[in-house]
Amino acid sequence: MKISVVGCGKVGSAVAYTALLKGLTDDIVLVDASCDKARGEALDILQCRAFAPQAKVRQGEMPDTAGSDIVIITAGIPRKADEPRVLLLSRNAALIGDIARKAVQYSPNCILFMITNPLDVMTQLAFKVSGLPRERVIGMGTVLDTSRYRSCLARDFGADARDIDAYVIGEHGETMVPVTTGINVRGIPLEQWPGFCPETLERTVKEVIAASGQVIALKGGTVFAPAASACAVLEALVRDSNAVLPVCTFQEDLGVCVSLPTIVNRAGAKQVLSLPISADEASRFAKSVDNIRTYVKDLAEYL
Ligand code: 2OP
Repeated sequence: MKISVVGCGKVGSAVAYTALLKGLTDDIVLVDASCDKARGEALDILQCRAFAPQAKVRQGEMPDTAGSDIVIITAGIPRKADEPRVLLLSRNAALIGDIARKAVQYSPNCILFMITNPLDVMTQLAFKVSGLPRERVIGMGTVLDTSRYRSCLARDFGADARDIDAYVIGEHGETMVPVTTGINVRGIPLEQWPGFCPETLERTVKEVIAASGQVIALKGGTVFAPAASACAVLEALVRDSNAVLPVCTFQEDLGVCVSLPTIVNRAGAKQVLSLPISADEASRFAKSVDNIRTYVKDLAEYL
């Protein structure tokens, strides 16, 4: 399985490292505007090989990504703590459009996996310029916010995060919708969980929406949660697992890329599922989609 990572900043290199440790690839190409940075990351990862699954790891240029099964795009300027992700649109769009075009030129059968912000808009851009079918252009979307949601719920209610079924849907941004309808711990409705308290749940929801800003303010950027979330998606793709993950894909009926629970396997984002939500959540999801729609209009000049 050949995986190329375009953009070797903190997130890109952490994704490559985590994917290697998890044995998700035996061939990784790292591409970055700074060849030295990519070479350094490749060498550092290579030096783990005595204690990790075996894989080829090298720095390369776009032609070296040829024949990739998955091309991960993390290039671009990251956001600062007080910036909405969407401010990055004009900074990142031209670059991401160019990378997505080149990625499919060299790997026409690849899956494009988008991590650059503003995530939904960049996924839409990659979908439009690549010409790939919708199931093969996947954004990390609210997989990351869902990881944060489950982790915070586990902490706040004393459960195992891996047992919690709860989703964040919508924009990977300020209008995301942490769904409270139907949250359960291994089939037990959260409302019946020992010590459940609606005020705590309300606080958890607010914390999840602000979660990345908190980390960025403290350490300058989010790294480990994005890398773990990206690898959850990679694992579903590589192992053909049919995992249900709220990845971001183009939704024909809505006309935008947005995150909803989706079956993910070797073919990509196989099928979007319908999640039971309340009328209020449905209306917040619709507003989130409207928000993405507004930003997507600004993409016209990059297509
Ligand atoms: C995150 O949510 C910055 O979008 C990035 O961590």
